[in-house]
Amino acid sequence: MYNEKIKFNKDGKLTILQVSDAQDMHIPRKAMFKMLEKVYGKVNPDLIVLTGDNILGNHLDDARFGNKKSVHTEEGTLKRMQKALGFLLKPINDRKIPFAFIYGNHDDMNRISKDRQAEIFGSYEYCVPYNTDDKSVDCDTYNIPVYSSKDENKIMYNIWMLDSAGCDKDGKPVYGHVQKNTLDWYERKSDELRAQNGGEAVMSLMFQHIPVDEIKELYVECDEKDKNSIKLPDGKFVKLDKEKANGYAFEIEHNESEYNNQLDILKRHNDVCGLVFGHDHMNSFIAKIKDINIIQTSGASFRCYGNLVTRGVRVFVIDENDTTSFETYQIGYFDLFGKSIISVLRYIFSADEYEKVKAVIIALFCVIGGGLLAYILAILNLFGI
Ligand SMILES: [Fe+2]
Repeated sequence: MYNEKIKFNKDGKLTILQVSDAQDMHIPRKAMFKMLEKVYGKVNPDLIVLTGDNILGNHLDDARFGNKKSVHTEEGTLKRMQKALGFLLKPINDRKIPFAFIYGNHDDMNRISKDRQAEIFGSYEYCVPYNTDDKSVDCDTYNIPVYSSKDENKIMYNIWMLDSAGCDKDGKPVYGHVQKNTLDWYERKSDELRAQNGGEAVMSLMFQHIPVDEIKELYVECDEKDKNSIKLPDGKFVKLDKEKANGYAFEIEHNESEYNNQLDILKRHNDVCGLVFGHDHMNSFIAKIKDINIIQTSGASFRCYGNLVTRGVRVFVIDENDTTSFETYQIGYFDLFGKSIISVLRYIFSADEYEKVKAVIIALFCVIGGGLLAYILAILNLFGI
């Protein structure tokens, strides 16, 4: 694991790259990893945060074709998990970029425990230490202090990593909110940091996979024909309210687990500048709810749902001279590669929703190739070769 401090760089800036919902498997889709490699070089982040659904953990045991399972032992699942995580983590580690992780619902939907899975992350040299000692919370609930560029003993900023890959009362993973024990831990740790900082709040960003309930307040009822209208289960249509949120949304969060009061708790402690989510692959926006900056980041995965606009990552830049604000922007696949034939074909051959288009392109190539071959053979025959 990484044993150095995370610090503001010599320009007084800290660049964080958020990769959410990478959600691939042991046989990867190339386009996402190409996209990530390119963005690491372009952004040169000081820290990468992997904000859950880092792998498609509930399908690790699947056979390559059909609906059957081809893995039946814990050892087999673990091997595939190590391989899947390797595709994500090795390029980061090779570039010597410190990285931190939290889990999402998909990471936890398999027979490998959260602790065992964390050991895989921790086996990489540049993995920032996660929680291994506080048993009141999960291993992916911890904080990362960020030190001043001028004084390496001074904590200037903080990054909260909160688990939201919860279980129901039978131990079955659910799409849950951050649990009460995790929020209690945050309150204790926030007080501790404030006391260490002479009574002043240490400003921070907070990352968690699942959005808070209040995110639904950012939508407004609309007509079916409105651009980017989203159908609700009751048949009504909504869209992102541009008066309240800046960005786009192609889906709405349907989490129905118990309300957890998180925003009120954060407001009381007044040390979180931005609360950042993943989970909803097709949404990317910034808004303010209860005076707290809310940031939704779309998914990077090509194996799971997404579209031409949404697949990408998010960058945060924080200046140590003003830690109460931050700059943030999203970078998409086509921002990096443009719309050349190669980048479009790579996209189509990797993206989940283009399976049929992919089949048509392959069939077309076969027909054209076959026709060409028949033509050449006919010519050769004509000349008696
Ligand atoms: Fe998720």
